[in-house]
Formats: sequence, C-alpha cells, structure tokens
Amino acid sequence: MPQVTFIEFNGTRHEVEVPSGTTLMRAATDNSVPGIDGDCGGQCACATCHVLVDPAWAERTGARNASEANMLEFVDDLREQSRLACQIMLTDALDGLVVAMPEGQH
Ligand code: FES
Repeated sequence: MPQVTFIEFNGTRHEVEVPSGTTLMRAATDNSVPGIDGDCGGQCACATCHVLVDPAWAERTGARNASEANMLEFVDDLREQSRLACQIMLTDALDGLVVAMPEGQH
C-alpha cells in the first residue's frame, strides 16, 4: 500500500495510505484531503487536481502526458513540477511520494 504525503499551501500535511492502482487524485478525495477537488472525476478535463510533485520524485512520477499538458495550460501557478493528480497512478514504486498543493487550491 503506497503511502503519500499531501502538503497544503499553508503547510498542513496529510499522510494517506491507499491500495496500489489508486490515482493520486482519488487518494486525496477518498481521504478528504482539502485542495484537490477532482471535479471531472479523473477525465483530465478540469485541472482541479493540480499538484506540485516534490523534485525528488519527479523522475519516478514521469512526464506529463499530452492531454494533461494541454489542461495544465489553464492553471494559475504553473510550475515545472506541476502535474494533474488524476494522471498519476500510485504503485509501490511511489511509496513515500510527497506532493504540494499550489496557492490557489485550498
Ligand atoms: Fe479533473 Fe484531474 S480530476 S483533471
């Protein structure tokens, strides 16, 4: 069961553990982590699941896919480490992942 730490913009940390095969967005919404709404249900169509992946994890989470990159064009606070949480599938290889929420999401 991968464990993930979400850090709100105000610094509040939320550590959750979810079954392997859960998306990062579902890991947040299923555990009522504030700042990730997942309005489109994970269809890569809303960008309310924008997260900033800790640089130490960037290689393991991989690169944005094309539709994700398009959707991220619409977010405020786009950064190099920006990802959409619905496009990251949690596996045991991502156990310990740390992501932060951008300022606009709380
Ligand atoms: Fe809508 Fe990720 S949940 S883009």
